Amino acid sequence: MKILVLNGPNLNLLGTREPGQYGTATLADVEASCREAGARLGHEVECFQSNWEGALIDKIHEYGRLHREGEALGCVFNPGAFTHTSVALHDAIKGVAGLPVVECHISNVHAREAFRHHSFVSPAAAGIVIGFGVHGYVIALEGLVRAHGKAAV
Ligand code: DQA
Repeated sequence: MKILVLNGPNLNLLGTREPGQYGTATLADVEASCREAGARLGHEVECFQSNWEGALIDKIHEYGRLHREGEALGCVFNPGAFTHTSVALHDAIKGVAGLPVVECHISNVHAREAFRHHSFVSPAAAGIVIGFGVHGYVIALEGLVRAHGKAAV
């Protein structure tokens, strides 16, 4: 089955963006480890990143349809700063009811500025992984497969 690894704004800058906060791995590195973990778990990972809210919403809708058709397992989603601002992303996840979305943040947002403490995505998420650096993406993938996949892993 397909699993979407979805990244929001500024995450294309991973590697050079605030390395003290986000580390030095690039988005390509993160996506490669997600594809590898997906293959190990018997699933095909598609990676998509956009700085545009609407493009992220369209991708969630696409995976909602694929999930309904039995072709997609779910989604690992780092919404970046849209986490803290976007009712539209909350509604998109709610709107494709049934698609499990695991929210993932590289940094521990709760140990940072107050404006990062609230997430519009969390109430719509199937699970949340926060603060494990870029390893969190693989942890989220494994959690998604264990909780929502058919294969015992
Ligand atoms: C982030 C945390 C957000 O607050 C921030 O805007 C990001 C990255 C993280 O992965 O830690 O862009 O989602």
